[in-house]
Amino acid sequence: MTSFWLDRHRALGSDEFIPDEKCDAVVVGAGLSGLTTALLLARSGMNVTVVEGRTIGSGTSGRSTAKVSLLQGTVLSGLRRYYSKHVVDAYVEGNREGQAWLLRYLDEQGVAYQRRDAYTFAVSDSGVSDLDSELSASIAAGLEVESVSETELPFAVRTALRLKDQAQVDPLDWIEAMVRDLRGRGGRVIENLRVRNVEASDGLRVITDQGELHPELVVLGTGMPILNRGLYFAKLKPVRSYAATLRVPDPASLPRGMYLSAEVPGRSVRTVPTDGEELLMVGGNGHQTGRVASPKGRLDVLTDWAKQHFPGAEVTHAWSAQDHRSISRMPFFGKMPRGQGRIYFATGYNKWGLTNSVAAALGISSEILGGDVQWAKTLHHRVTSPRGIGTAVALNADVAKTLGAEWAKTRTQAATDVRTPPEGTGVVVTKDRPVAVSNVNGVTCRLSAVCTHLGGIVTWNDAEKSWDCPLHGSRFDSDGTVLEGPATKDLGRLD
Ligand SMILES: Cc1cc2nc3c(=O)[nH]c(=O)nc-3n(C[C@H](O)[C@H](O)[C@H](O)COP(=O)(O)OP(=O)(O)OC[C@H]3O[C@@H](n4cnc5c(N)ncnc54)[C@H](O)[C@@H]3O)c2cc1C
Ligand code: FES
Repeated sequence: MTSFWLDRHRALGSDEFIPDEKCDAVVVGAGLSGLTTALLLARSGMNVTVVEGRTIGSGTSGRSTAKVSLLQGTVLSGLRRYYSKHVVDAYVEGNREGQAWLLRYLDEQGVAYQRRDAYTFAVSDSGVSDLDSELSASIAAGLEVESVSETELPFAVRTALRLKDQAQVDPLDWIEAMVRDLRGRGGRVIENLRVRNVEASDGLRVITDQGELHPELVVLGTGMPILNRGLYFAKLKPVRSYAATLRVPDPASLPRGMYLSAEVPGRSVRTVPTDGEELLMVGGNGHQTGRVASPKGRLDVLTDWAKQHFPGAEVTHAWSAQDHRSISRMPFFGKMPRGQGRIYFATGYNKWGLTNSVAAALGISSEILGGDVQWAKTLHHRVTSPRGIGTAVALNADVAKTLGAEWAKTRTQAATDVRTPPEGTGVVVTKDRPVAVSNVNGVTCRLSAVCTHLGGIVTWNDAEKSWDCPLHGSRFDSDGTVLEGPATKDLGRLD
């Protein structure tokens, strides 16, 4: 499913791969984390190569709802339950700097964006109580958040929080500007080149299908880290969610703000100015990757909700994407353990990556270049907290339970041989071993159903026509090609 942004933008094209290239830094992933870090390093005179497994911006960054806000749902009250005020202040400071850097950069580059008020709204008793906590946490962190009753939303809201003068962007406009800027400084961005591994003994070796690269340091901006060092896959929860743009009969009636519900499942609303008209954009209805029977059903619920509240609305684009929530709720960025101090990574933005990716890039580049950013030092490697450890144990117990249940299911399944499932569908069958069989556009593929990361059994995603792993969120195309990690190898082909 193609996002509104990706459909609207032309491909930026790839630089050529030079086998055994030596450079100062290889950045893996051409999303917001990777490109912002690459640009900051290139600005300081470093020779940087970005390696992207698919195309520029085609990961979560090109599928975001792209609100650039310091009011982030109920994030601050959630963090405050885990951390001291000092640490939460550092999170807000990092996001404030991220937002300021981004908007200044867009101004410098002549990229349009819209200033909008951000709202978190509540429709239930528990939502109202969550907003009380969020208001206190926000004010304590120095944000001028206020409680309001009027939102312009076309449905009843019990109460809402508002932070004025935030922003919304087209993430691909921002990405395009960064790629142009980076290339203008001698940086290179190579598409369709998947990194399979990074060896850190005897210098760094970035291993791809086409050959190796030999940088002085590596930055992973891959969402879920593709290396198992530090076991970050076990400290992050991959959450897939849905988004759509809709054309409404009376665009003048659209609410002007950017909105997010306090309740779960989430509902996100903003507008998108495009070609002389204004579209509605909605998002939400997330779930852990690979854990629901019908992702398409989740998307349908979201678009039905939008049509119910905006009568006559017609879907122009609908898509899905995933982001990661760390067990400690705080983004992870900085040096990766056991990487000779030369492998860095950034992830775990909990769907607030527009400001957090810049904060992480500022933090990583300052660490590499010898800067002294206090909030980054406070947040750096805040991997666990006493509450976070408990969550890690629970998350991994759940992963182990899911792994056991999926394997048990394959053992008890009657031996079947579905030669060709109906068009557009996929099914896992047992024939000596778990086999993933799909039929997409008339092509039947038989693959090993065992995830190449750590052996989860993949499940069919009927929205994206992909195989998704319920353990740590790796995803594979219907032909087995890896789409997103932590896995870096394709599903085994059995045909
Ligand atoms: C539906 C949705 C709505 C969102 N809305 C908002 C919002 O309104 N505001 C906000 O602040 N945040 C939002 N977010 C979160 C935000 O979009 C993300 O946090 C952010 O885009 C993540 O950027 P990234 O660069 O870290 O990851 P990505 O954009 O996913 O980039 C990672 C890149 O790495 C590449 N890659 C992965 N593995 C390899 C490999 N082995 N070799 C080479 N390349 C590889 C991928 O192909 C990808 O292009 C939303 C997220 C979702 C899912
Ligand atoms: S993603 Fe880890 S086992 Fe599949």
